[in-house]
Amino acid sequence: PPPVTDAAAAPATLAELGQALSRCRACPIGQHATQAVAGEGAPGARLMLVGEQPGDQEDLQGRPFVGPAGQLLDRALAQLGWPRQALYLTNAVKHFKFEPRGKRRMHKTAGQREAAACGPWLEHEIALVRPAALVALGATAARALLGRPVAVTEARGQWLPRFDGLPVLVTLHPAALLRGDAELEDAFAAWAADLARATEHLA
Ligand code: URA
Repeated sequence: PPPVTDAAAAPATLAELGQALSRCRACPIGQHATQAVAGEGAPGARLMLVGEQPGDQEDLQGRPFVGPAGQLLDRALAQLGWPRQALYLTNAVKHFKFEPRGKRRMHKTAGQREAAACGPWLEHEIALVRPAALVALGATAARALLGRPVAVTEARGQWLPRFDGLPVLVTLHPAALLRGDAELEDAFAAWAADLARATEHLA
């Protein structure tokens, strides 16, 4: 099958979306990544969590949030009593963007170009899963969902409405907890408290 150079055509199912996404060349990063990483979770999930982009582990395994950031997320989900399978987890950008450094692949933050090229995939996922609410994990996700830059440290813990009326809870990306100035345990507790605000949308 030919590459997909424009993500705008709407797939009928999540399976179809995964197929088309795997051939996406709407921006250049897909040609260096191992594979595209589509969202995963319950097709009718009420809550969709959106990260930035797959990391090294996600790129290799083809699943979202399975590396170090995913482990922090799993810890928060366990604390909140949210089964991972009841949610839908995805990313604003579906391919891993990196810079080779020796044998390692260093994460490079996705730019507006990649995020904009990937935006239609995220919108297709939202249209197919039809969640009641969204959680933006970090600035890239918040901007992709809300269509404007968001100062995450100011907006964290708040619900902001999207153009289609869907509420978006803004919080930090889990990787930011690992990089931050605060003690990890303090940062983690504050982050879990942000996420807890979405509990009302789970039932
Ligand atoms: N970070 C993300 O934003 N998404 C993943 O899937 C993994 C790490």
